Amino acid sequence: MMEAVILHGGQGTRLRPLTHTGPKQLIRVAGKPVSQWVLEQVVEAGITDVVLVLGDNNPTRVVEYYGDGSKFGARIRYVYQGKARGLADAVYRVRKLVSDQFLVYLGDNVVPYDLRRLFPLRGAASILLARVPNPGRFGVVVVRDGKVVRLVEKPKEPVSDLALVGVYGFTSEVFEVVQSLRPSWRGELEITDAIQGLVDRGREVEFQVVDGWWKDTGTPEDVLEANSFLLDRHATRSVLGEVRNSTVEGRVVVEQGAVVENSTIRGPSFVGRGTTVRNSFVGPFTSIGEDCVVEGSEVEHSVILDQVTLRGVSLMDSLVGTRAVVERGAKRQRLVIGENSRVWM
Ligand code: DAU
Repeated sequence: MMEAVILHGGQGTRLRPLTHTGPKQLIRVAGKPVSQWVLEQVVEAGITDVVLVLGDNNPTRVVEYYGDGSKFGARIRYVYQGKARGLADAVYRVRKLVSDQFLVYLGDNVVPYDLRRLFPLRGAASILLARVPNPGRFGVVVVRDGKVVRLVEKPKEPVSDLALVGVYGFTSEVFEVVQSLRPSWRGELEITDAIQGLVDRGREVEFQVVDGWWKDTGTPEDVLEANSFLLDRHATRSVLGEVRNSTVEGRVVVEQGAVVENSTIRGPSFVGRGTTVRNSFVGPFTSIGEDCVVEGSEVEHSVILDQVTLRGVSLMDSLVGTRAVVERGAKRQRLVIGENSRVWM
């Protein structure tokens, strides 16, 4: 028996105002919250015992969405972390709920990888790494003679371009190390320091370098990129809504209860239930949430959350928050706006 721990805490500062009313892990890309993509990946790997760690930004939304997990083929339990005191603090809080080996996955990361390959652990931990052009944004790892020798969180000096991707395998030994950690310069208990602690104890830390696409959806650009990737990889044609006098090209999902009229939808794209698209051009690489109205508009390469109104606008590379209203406008504009916003162009 092994558990997966999916983190739902943190600040989400770089995604404000989208995160003013809920955690960033619930932002929907390609029709599902980022962390649902994680959960499905975990379940697919055969891990159905799941613990979600909650932060202090509207954690009840997470519980309402996932419930006991049965809808997702999992058994979900919750642990409340509250204030973001760091990844090691978040992990420490699950110590009574996990077995000797367990998986930790950051709920805002998308890492296409067969999670079965991480287990069973030989050493005390197993990490996934990827080469990045901007190591200063990540935790990085120095590998010497095929061994992990040093880990640095958000390095100021270019010690390595091998970044920690947000997926970790641990044995319960990590809890012993976390107990003796001190907060870092950013005031957090760093999981990177905990892994360093394991190395300092002479324990083996296994690693694998992933070479495909992966994403930490920390910024609006990252969210758009994750949306494009997930649509590209997972969208299959499924037109269940009502389509009148329109062209629906390629891998397009039109959910039941959506209406598409006098429009063109180009895949890969997603149109959520209850949404009306009229006299518009949508896609490619566009996700439109539930209960939206899109009228006389062009929307391309964008993520539109729920209950949004778009009228007479031309958008690309845009991220539009829940209940936003964007009306009129001749030129293509670029937007990142949050819940309850109104924009006249
Ligand atoms: O994305 C990979 C990077 O994630 C790693 O390379 C870094 O070593 C690791 O520290 C982490 O860096 P970030 O600065 O991107 O972490 P962030 O604060 O965004 O938190 C990552 C996830 O964990 C996010 O889903 C929020 C959640 N979290 C974060 C903290 C600090 C919690 O649940 N509790 C927390 O206390």
